[in-house]
Order: sequence, then C-alpha cells, then structure tokens
Amino acid sequence: MSDLTSGPGSSAAVEAVGVERNFDGADGNVIRVLRGVDLRLGRGETVSIVGPSGSGKSTLLHILGGLDLPSSGRIALGGRDVANLDDVQLARVRNRYVGFVFQFHHLLRDFTALENVMMPQLIAGTSRPAARKRALELLDQVGLADRSGHVPAKLSGGEQQRVATARALANEPPVLLADEPSGNLDLDTSEVLHDVLFDLVRDHGTAMVVVTHNTALASRTDRILRLSSGVLELAEPHEDPQAGGD
Ligand SMILES: Nc1ncnc2c1ncn2[C@@H]1O[C@H](COP(=O)(O)OP(=O)(O)OP(=O)(O)O)[C@@H](O)[C@H]1O
Ligand SMILES: [Mg+2]
Repeated sequence: MSDLTSGPGSSAAVEAVGVERNFDGADGNVIRVLRGVDLRLGRGETVSIVGPSGSGKSTLLHILGGLDLPSSGRIALGGRDVANLDDVQLARVRNRYVGFVFQFHHLLRDFTALENVMMPQLIAGTSRPAARKRALELLDQVGLADRSGHVPAKLSGGEQQRVATARALANEPPVLLADEPSGNLDLDTSEVLHDVLFDLVRDHGTAMVVVTHNTALASRTDRILRLSSGVLELAEPHEDPQAGGD
C-alpha cells in the first residue's frame, strides 16, 4: 500500500523497502519474522507500530536503526543504504542519524545524567564544553536540570527514561526509535514521558517510530501501523493495540 511508505517531504529520515528478516529456528526451520516491510518517514513525522508479542516489532526497530541487518530488502538512514557500510561507518551513521529509547533505560550506571547525555556527542567528536552545554539544555527540556549530577540509580524509573530520551536526541538525529519507552512506568509517569517525547520531537523536527502497547501513546502519532504476519498495515486509530494478530 503506497500510503504506508510515503510520508510528507521528499527526503526520508528513515526508509525501509521490502525488508525481510529470517531467523534459524531450534528445529532447523526458518522463522520468517518480517516478510516484506515498507516504511518511509519524512522529517518530523511520527508513527507508532503496534502488534502482538512476538510479531517482530523489536526486530523491525533494530533493523530500522542499523542494529541488525535485514535478510533481504533495503534500509536507508539519512539517505544512505546501510548495506553499503562497514562496521565503523555503520556505527558512525547510527551515532549521528538515530536515537534509541528502550523499555529499560540502558544508561551507563557509573556516569551522571549529564555525562550520559554528553557521551554520544563526545563519541561524535563534539568538544567537551559544547557537549556539556547541549546536554544541560536537553536535561532542562526534559525537566531534569536539577538532577544532572545524579547517577541513574539515584533517579526514578520515569526520570531515567527522560534522561535516556535526552541522550537519544543529543546528536540531533533525524530519527528517534523508541521500543515500549513507557512499558515499565505507571500511568501518570508514562504521561509525563509521552509529553516529553512529543515536545522534543516537535521542537527538534525529529521523526519518531514508537513501538507500543499503550493506546494513549499510539493515538498521539500521525499514523498507527500494525505489524501482522510480517507486514505493516494501517491500524484503525482507536483500535486496541494489543488486539488481533496472526
Ligand atoms: N536472534 C533471534 N534468533 C531467533 N529468533 C529470534 C531472534 N530475535 C527474535 N526472534 C524471534 O522473532 C520473533 C519476533 O521477536 P520480536 O522480539 O521482534 O517480537 P516483538 O513484537 O518485539 O514482541 P514483544 O511485544 O514481546 O516485545 C519472535 O518469535 C522471536 O522469538
Ligand atoms: Mg519487543
């Protein structure tokens, strides 16, 4: 369906064409998880991906972000086909073009919130003063200016996810990929995180793909897509993200 693949604007922040991903099953069979996924996100566009457990949502997100490679098909990040990159080039493209937020924060536990948000910038070659300035701005935007000196263990789950969001956007990537970002949070804390996510992607013009079971979160994105039988299809705006399946 063409309306799945075409977002607004001509240059895609991220693009998947005919993506398939197979895994080797324990019994020697091939597990065909993704069977031809097409997705194109224009600048600033937001999409949620829903679908039952095991339908391949995380697999797709990892492939979109260059953490995993498709068995066949094509992924372009910032207009560059990831298949043509060696490991060093791919790491560089990921660092610059993609931010990730996972269900669990994955912050570096021995480093403060400020240092965690500085880290991707230092890896990208940003000077320490510039990285620090930008990290402080981002921590302020996620409402944690007064927590910049705290290590992750001294922060609540919601605060950890907000630091992870600030870190994901530290290098101003064109695309943010979030896998159940509020899956571990209670209702009120989830809403604070969702507000932070949407405020940030709007302010920075970041495209966002969010995998979620959360109806409130999904309904805030421009499109809701369902991963079903290995392909993406448009979901009804108000259907239950957990319903349906293979
Ligand atoms: N490295 C792997 N090797 C073999 N099978 C895998 C591998 N990674 C994922 N799978 C299988 O691919 C399928 C999709 O997994 P995936 O984690 O993408 O699902 P999901 O939609 O994110 O589920 P959930 O909602 O529970 O997070 C599952 O059947 C899983 O067992
Ligand atoms: Mg998953």
